[in-house]
Amino acid sequence: MTRQFGDYQNEIYFDGLFGVLPKYPLEFAGLEAAALAALPPSIRSYVAGGAGDEHTQRANVTAFRRWGLVPRMLVGAARRDLSVRLFGLELPSPLFLAPIGVIGLCAQDGHGDLATARAAARTGVPMIASTLTVDPMEQVAAELGDVPGLFQLYTPTDRALAESLVHRAEAAGFRGIVVTLDTWVTGWRPRDLAVGNFPQLRGQALANYTSDPVFRARLAKAPEEDLQAAVAEWVGLFGNPLTWDDLAWLRSITRLPLILKGICHPEDVRRARDGGVDGVYCSNHGGRQADGGLPALDALPAVVEAAAGLPVLFDSGVRTGADVVKALALGAAAVGIGRPYAYGLALGGADGVVHVLRSLLAEADLIMAVDGYPTLADLRAEGALRRV
Ligand code: FNR
Repeated sequence: MTRQFGDYQNEIYFDGLFGVLPKYPLEFAGLEAAALAALPPSIRSYVAGGAGDEHTQRANVTAFRRWGLVPRMLVGAARRDLSVRLFGLELPSPLFLAPIGVIGLCAQDGHGDLATARAAARTGVPMIASTLTVDPMEQVAAELGDVPGLFQLYTPTDRALAESLVHRAEAAGFRGIVVTLDTWVTGWRPRDLAVGNFPQLRGQALANYTSDPVFRARLAKAPEEDLQAAVAEWVGLFGNPLTWDDLAWLRSITRLPLILKGICHPEDVRRARDGGVDGVYCSNHGGRQADGGLPALDALPAVVEAAAGLPVLFDSGVRTGADVVKALALGAAAVGIGRPYAYGLALGGADGVVHVLRSLLAEADLIMAVDGYPTLADLRAEGALRRV
């Protein structure tokens, strides 16, 4: 029998009968405020901030308000099915944890990658693990249990290092490779610039590099504990301005599903398809990379159309269960949660992430119940969603 995510509210109301109130906020504004108060200032600006005057970051969120679901009655949607099949995986829900470099630093114990993986294991929500982690990918994978993880690659300029990272991800049991295309250079981020803070330059979240044999060989002359040498080497390697000519090589280095992240233009979808990818990931990096851009949600319908059946992952601006429902109705195969889980982690470690995911799923599920859309196919049917 399918799980009913909405049952989370029964647990909360039942606890309330005994005077036990939810430990973490239930709506995004409260969650964000509490988490920002809990995070140290440098991490706070890194996580909450975005590119330029953050217009695109805000627009990602407000774009959802321009769509509304049309309620249907007498459907009897007593059971809802939110499960999805993606890249050969059977997933209980259409959510996934978007890759967040430095998520490690958001946890109070400094091991947020591991806590996120534990939250994935507890909820069945897959985690996309960033290249930029505090703990090496093998340790992150070990915490996932049976729940699938995908590895997000920031493609370094050294192809041997890129291949080493991908092959390690395969050996560690990750089930797909997500190549992020929009971050070969860091966007203009006034909040981080104002406090002169870029965590990686302080040697943070570089474990996948410092644990890598190819990276270590490049550092052969420096002693293992020489963090400054590692950072200098990382600076020289991190950003690779890939072109479409590199896609055949990326395709050739793994048999795992290959997904390109940052795709917002239909022509780019077609080129990705032609290059043999298994999925595209429509995202503008939460508005952290380039201000002045289209909200990612506004790009989604054309991306889905051009994908012609190829799965489209989506993130950027998802804050509520209603947002999840709308992204699914617009054709996303699965919906990525970004900042909300970083805030849950900051407040309560793995428990905080589990709470955020369960709340989002409960709200999405209950909207589908109330509005009479028992399946994702129903949501995607003509007329379910209207432009406001
Ligand atoms: C990110 N994101 C990101 N993406 C990626 O491919 N690799 C990464 O390492 C990171 N790192 C990262 C750090 C922080 C602090 C944030 C907030 C985001 C982008 C992430 O995967 C996703 O696209 C956005 O978080 C979606 O936007 P919202 O919904 O969080 O605003």
